[in-house]
Amino acid sequence: MKTKMIAPSLLSADFGNLERDIEMLNQSQADWIHVDVMDGRFVPNISFGFPVMKTVQKFSKKFVDVHLMIVEPEKYVEEFIAQGADLVSVHYEACIHLHRVISLIQEKGAKAGVVLNPSTPVLMLEDIIADVDLVLLMSVNPGFGGQKFIENTYKKIAETKDLILSNNSTALIEVDGGVNLENCGKLFDAGADVLVAGNAVFSTDSPQKTIELLKL
Ligand code: DX5
Ligand code: ZN
Repeated sequence: MKTKMIAPSLLSADFGNLERDIEMLNQSQADWIHVDVMDGRFVPNISFGFPVMKTVQKFSKKFVDVHLMIVEPEKYVEEFIAQGADLVSVHYEACIHLHRVISLIQEKGAKAGVVLNPSTPVLMLEDIIADVDLVLLMSVNPGFGGQKFIENTYKKIAETKDLILSNNSTALIEVDGGVNLENCGKLFDAGADVLVAGNAVFSTDSPQKTIELLKL
C-alpha cells in the first residue's frame, strides 16, 4: 500500500544555512529531499549543481530525489548518482533517447523517473511507462519556486494512473509545483503518491509542522 509522501524542495531553502535546513528536514516527517537542478538552458533559471549536491550527500538522512531541468541529462546522471542521488528524474522534453537515459540511471543503481512539462500529454509515456520507477508531473512551468498551481494537473494524474494500471507498471506519481495546504489532500485523493513542496514548506514559521499538515 502506497503512503502519502512529501518531498520538500531545497530550492526554497536558505543556502546560507543549508546544513541547518537539511538537518531540520532530517528531523521532520519529510520522506524525500527534492533537489532541483537548473541549467539556464532547459529552463530560464540557474539553480545549483554538484557543490550543493555534495552538501546534500554529506548531511541528508532522507531519500534524495534529484530533478534535472537540464539539456543533455545523459552527460551528468552518473555523477549525480555517484554523489548520492537515490532517484534521478529527467524531462521527456530534454531526452532524444529517453529509454537509453532511463536504462543508464537504473544500471548505475538509482531509481529512474520521467518528468512531463504541463503542456506534454501523458500519452507520450505509453512506451516507457513499464520501464520507469516514477512519473513526475509538473504542475507549474519549471524554472521557479512559488508559482501558481495549474489545475489541469488533476486530469493528468488520472490519465497517468490509468496508464500505470493498464501496463502493470509499478511507477509512483509525483507532482511538483504550487503544492500547498489547500490542494494537497485533493492531489493525494486524485492518485499522487509524492508531493513536492518548496514555498509552502519553507515560507512558514514552522516547516516541520507544515510537512506534517501536508500529509494529513
Ligand atoms: C520548479 C521546481 C519545483 C519547485 C517547487 O521548477 O521543479 O520543485 O521548487 O516549488 P513550489 O512548491 O514553491 O512551487
Ligand atoms: Zn522540482
